[in-house]
Amino acid sequence: MADENSRKGERYVHPDILAFVEGVHATDTGAFAAAFDAPKREGIPAIQVSRVEARLLGLILAMSNARKVVEVGTLAGYSALHMASRLAEGGRLWSLELDARHAALARGAIADAGLSDRVEVRVGAAIDLLPELASEGPFDAVFIDGDKENYPAYGAWAAAHLRPRGLLLADNVYYFGQLMDDSEGARAMRRFHEQCAVDFDTTCVPTPDGLLLGIRK
Ligand SMILES: C[S@@+](CC[C@H](N)C(=O)[O-])C[C@H]1O[C@@H](n2cnc3c(N)ncnc32)[C@H](O)[C@@H]1O
Repeated sequence: MADENSRKGERYVHPDILAFVEGVHATDTGAFAAAFDAPKREGIPAIQVSRVEARLLGLILAMSNARKVVEVGTLAGYSALHMASRLAEGGRLWSLELDARHAALARGAIADAGLSDRVEVRVGAAIDLLPELASEGPFDAVFIDGDKENYPAYGAWAAAHLRPRGLLLADNVYYFGQLMDDSEGARAMRRFHEQCAVDFDTTCVPTPDGLLLGIRK
């Protein structure tokens, strides 16, 4: 399927392929579908992970038998549902959210999915909430998807509170395509990459905006 974009050597996948793959591998039903649609429905930013990415997060947690997981950035709970539904027996997800309205929507979605017994949404700035969570650790996985400027601090917290061989996942690590810019935010994201490569065995999954994946050394 060579076309103008692939000839130029840019990453390009035909939208029909992406739609087919999503339809086969990443369909949502019930509360999961409602949670995906919630941001648009409720007039808040529709910045949740894609269906395929949510599936990927869930499968990675299932493959690693994760039981105790922390998420930074809940929004309306879409990624939280996918991750919580894949936790091992007795598992728990703590999801941290700055915006009280987002947190309320997420709690509703979690209840609708029947997952309230295993997900706790805490409201506040993650940088303040993370120290309070420390006593629940060590954790099996941390998913970072909140404010980008604090990724270096969140990564450092994860390195300190994940069990050995625990998983780090972080979305938007291409920084919305601006990673190589000369801005404070881009520099912080590059520092995050570089520090993660020291503390974790890492790679960067080439999702549209990059998903960093690491195993705690
Ligand atoms: C990209 S969205 C999260 C999407 C969600 N993980 C999903 O895929 O369904 C980022 C969320 O982080 C929240 N946020 C922003 N700054 C934050 C902070 N300092 N602490 C905690 N959450 C924050 C925003 O309010 C927003 O809901």
